[in-house]
Amino acid sequence: MNVELYVDRTACIACGRCVKICPAGIFSLDVERRNATTANVSSCIVCGHCVAACPTGAVHHGDFPPSRVHDVDRSELPSPEEVLTLCRMRRSNRAFDGRPVPEDKLAVIVEAAHRAPTASNKQQVAFTVVTDPAALRRVTDYTMKSFRGVLTLLRNPVVGALVKAVKPDIYAMLPMLERLDGKYKAGVDPILRGASALLLIHTPADNRFGRDDANLAYQNGSLMAESLGVSQFYTGFLCTAIRRDRRGEFSRMLGIDGVVHAGMALGMPAFRLSKYIDKKDVCAEYIR
Ligand SMILES: Cc1cc2nc3c(=O)[nH]c(=O)nc-3n(C[C@H](O)[C@H](O)[C@H](O)COP(=O)(O)O)c2cc1C
Repeated sequence: MNVELYVDRTACIACGRCVKICPAGIFSLDVERRNATTANVSSCIVCGHCVAACPTGAVHHGDFPPSRVHDVDRSELPSPEEVLTLCRMRRSNRAFDGRPVPEDKLAVIVEAAHRAPTASNKQQVAFTVVTDPAALRRVTDYTMKSFRGVLTLLRNPVVGALVKAVKPDIYAMLPMLERLDGKYKAGVDPILRGASALLLIHTPADNRFGRDDANLAYQNGSLMAESLGVSQFYTGFLCTAIRRDRRGEFSRMLGIDGVVHAGMALGMPAFRLSKYIDKKDVCAEYIR
């Protein structure tokens, strides 16, 4: 990567923080001169850790001029108890009341999602926010069209029997697909459940970690949605349809350049949960 990165020797106090934190091993301590130096700057992934860690402002990075570096009072961070309460209260809530999600709340959810880490700090995750009711309907229609194709195959006695024998997990989806189809035919939206917004998270098709990056972004966004009092759920049915769609019809339909990996249905809650429930007992081993 073509970056401008150097250490101002007059300001450096040789604390070694940049050496320890840099993921690319660019910094080392010059013991004689008692300051940090750089090498192989082209391997920089532009994460900005060096700039954020330097206590004296000695690290100069062309991508992070002072206007892009911000002081933080760590005492203003939420407490561990507050973070855990947010994790406990973040639920998938499909009980929407039809109100639109205010634009400023959508923007904060996107910003939180955008803050998630990405493999090699590529930052190629992009977002499309759909609030147009006609476009939301098209998303549900698209998903149900894909599922009806699967249903037709599974209902066929010969194909159904074959799938049952070879791919029992796919055949086991038949009752659920029948249920979704029944609801859809009855005029109920079984995919977006009346959400007033859909946040689609996508990356370029050649990003090897696209799905991982998108799902990490999702989780940041869902925690922010909960904290804003906006309800959300993961649109797994839609993502299943998108994965079946090898020709990229979905992205084309919405003018998205890339592959959609995750989707968040959003809406204002018909009611808020005032309790959290216990999940299954945590399964965690500690290898000491
Ligand atoms: C990968 C994935 C796919 C999901 N797909 C759907 C979906 O298509 N529709 C839906 O209503 N909920 C979907 N969910 C939400 C789960 O059903 C939800 O996480 C589960 O009910 C647990 O509830 P919680 O999120 O409130 O803890 C999905 C969740 C995940 C992680």
